Formats: sequence, structure tokens, C-alpha cells
Amino acid sequence: QKLPESEIQRVFAKYVDETDYATAITQKRVYILDYADLEILQRNPGQIDGGRKQYVTTPIVVLFLQADGILRPIAIQLYQDVGPDNPIYTPNDGNLWLAAKTFAQVADGNHHILITHATRIHYVMEAIIMASRRQLYKSHPLCVLLNPHLRHTLNVNHQHIFLRDRKGRPGRYGELFAGDYDATTQCMANGMTSFDFGASAFPNDIASREVDNPDLFYPYRDDGMLLWNAIQHFTTEYIDVCYQSDGDVAEDCEIQAWAHDIGAQDRGRIPGFPARFASRQELAETIGHVIFLCTAFHSCIHFNQYKYPGFVPNMPHSAYAPPPVGKGAEMDADGLLKLQPAFRAAYSQTWTYFQTNFTVNRIGQYPLRQFDPAARDVIERFRKQLQEIEGRIDQRNSSRPVPYDRMNPRIIPNGVTV
Ligand SMILES: [Fe+2]
Repeated sequence: QKLPESEIQRVFAKYVDETDYATAITQKRVYILDYADLEILQRNPGQIDGGRKQYVTTPIVVLFLQADGILRPIAIQLYQDVGPDNPIYTPNDGNLWLAAKTFAQVADGNHHILITHATRIHYVMEAIIMASRRQLYKSHPLCVLLNPHLRHTLNVNHQHIFLRDRKGRPGRYGELFAGDYDATTQCMANGMTSFDFGASAFPNDIASREVDNPDLFYPYRDDGMLLWNAIQHFTTEYIDVCYQSDGDVAEDCEIQAWAHDIGAQDRGRIPGFPARFASRQELAETIGHVIFLCTAFHSCIHFNQYKYPGFVPNMPHSAYAPPPVGKGAEMDADGLLKLQPAFRAAYSQTWTYFQTNFTVNRIGQYPLRQFDPAARDVIERFRKQLQEIEGRIDQRNSSRPVPYDRMNPRIIPNGVTV
């Protein structure tokens, strides 16, 4: 095991008074974050500004769910392999604990933006957009429905500030991440091959990450479920208007070609995308899943960047000094500062502000003229439901210790527009 359970137990006993380890495990109050996916970045670090070295590790972080619903980190191991140079840092380790937390944040930022955000939303949507443009005639009812959700994304994805620019130079934003250019893009490619469309359905994701403990303060989950259900309900009604029977779906060669274009090995290569649709229910689930991904999910993943890496010292995209080696390492305030980027790189990272301070549309906006009367009624009902959800989330927020608005339809854009 990468982080021996006996060690977790030992740390747990030392830092948690509320309960014992066995009870905490059965109550789902112990969480582990594992950044093994970043090994390629750790092995191939980048540099910036003419030679300043970048650092990232592959931490394992243990979190405990306190009685107040908040997660508290109690242990951080900076690398995967157990060994004397790879101790478990704990809240008792003073500045070394702060350094370990900085490396955990660096890892989380790289994972969040390279894998979750860029790859598993922006680039997944790119395959879906290309398939829609190639296979669905513009008056096909699913093309009419999806179109408002697919706007602006290709433009956003081709901003040269992230990947290479026209002269082949790494983008000013992309180069802030901790690996060299090839490792960074390979890390993203790995994020795509290990992605599974079916597993990314909201309820499946909540279940597989085991974050279903109701005591966990997790508005993303609680509000997200409202949105997921509303969108699924909407697409089910919409599909029932468009198709009279399951046979109609099976015989719709455009929609079958669309699915093939997204998932097939010689096409979009999105793992786990349905190869074909045999029923109205299957089709409705998938369309609802795509709409959730590019609206509610992207809203949370994208706009919350301002709150975390937007304040650079909280989550620099690289560390700029090596991690401490062992518990005897020196780490004074100066050493902690050296982990942070110099001015130019820090300034580039605040580009996040421009990426998160505007929206161009909002979820539920459809050009009604383009829809049949029965479909218009379905859309009107969906809009009413979104309005109800706004009210419910407002109400929840009035009594939450920290308000959470990213799942509020009032501010969710209609697609990956930024
Ligand atoms: Fe985005």
C-alpha cells in the first residue's frame, strides 16, 4: 500500500479526538486524495522565465470529516512510495506542514485544470461538437436542442494562451503548470484515456468518490442533484416529443452516426460513450448527461477557479523550490516564500480573473421560434423548474455556513463559453 493503513490509524489517533478510526471508517468520515496521475509531471518538470525550475509531487492527502461537516487535512505524504525520505507530514510539523499543504495545493491545481477542466470538459465537448456538426442536419430536433449548448467552445479551446501558440511556443498560461510541455499534454491525454463517460454521470461520480455521507457539507452534490434531475426530466420529455417509439430512435441513422462519431476509435475516441442508442430512455439520458456536463458541471469547475488559484499563494500552479526532504528539513518563512512564483508567473496566473468574471448566456436559453409547439411547452416547463431550483438554492444558501452559488441556474452559462 502506498500509504500504510497502520500509519493513517496512528495519525488519526493523534489528531482526532471526536471518534476512533474504526468508527470513522464505517461512518465514511475518512477521505483520501491520491494524485498518482501527476507522476508524469513530477518526472518531467518544466521551467519558466529562462530557467526557473518548477516542482510538483504526487501527494496522498488524508482528510477527516469533522462534526461540523467540514473536511480537515490530518496527514500529507508528498510522494507515492513509502520510504524514510517520504515521511507523513501532520499538523504538528510547523512550517513543514505548511510546505506540504502548498504541495498538495499545487497538485490539486494541476489535476483540476489539466485533467478535470481542460480535458474532461473542454476537450470532451470538442468531440461532441465536431460529431454534431458532422452528423446532425441543422433541422434535426437534437441539433436544434444542442446548438445553444455548443456555441463558443471551439473558439475558447483554440486560445493560444493555453497550448502552443502559432510559433510553437508554450502558451503563457499553459507554461505555468508544473510539467514540461510534452509531459503536460501527455498528462492531459492520459486524463482522456482514463475518462469514462458513463462514470462521469453525476450520480455515478458521487457514488464512486464515496462523497454521499449526508453529514458532509457538500453543496456541489446537494444542488447538483437538483440540476441533474431537472435536466434528465427535461430531455426525457423532449425525446418523447421527438420520437414516438424506441424503434424510431434505433432507426434514426443521424443520431446513431453521431454516437459513433463521438466514441469510435477512429473518430472522437471518448471512452465509454454509448456506441448506439436502442431506446428513447438511453438517448434522453445521454443528451441530458451532455447538457449537464457543459452547463452545471462546467460552471462549478470553471468559475470556482477564481476562489482557489485566483489568489496565487493559495494554489500556485507550480512550486518553485524543491519539496522538503524528511522531517529534519529546514523550513523558515523565507523557504515557504521560495515555493511561490516570481512576479511574472504569478501575474500570468491572475489571468484566471479574466476567465471567470463574465458570462455570455445562461442555462435554459433556447430560440423558441426554432422549436415545434410541443417542444416549446417542454422548454417552458424546464425553465419553470430552473426558476424553482434558483429559489431553493437561495433558501439553502441563507442558512449555509458558506453560500454556494455555482449550481444556481441564475449564473450557470448555457455551455462551455469560457
Ligand atoms: Fe472552462
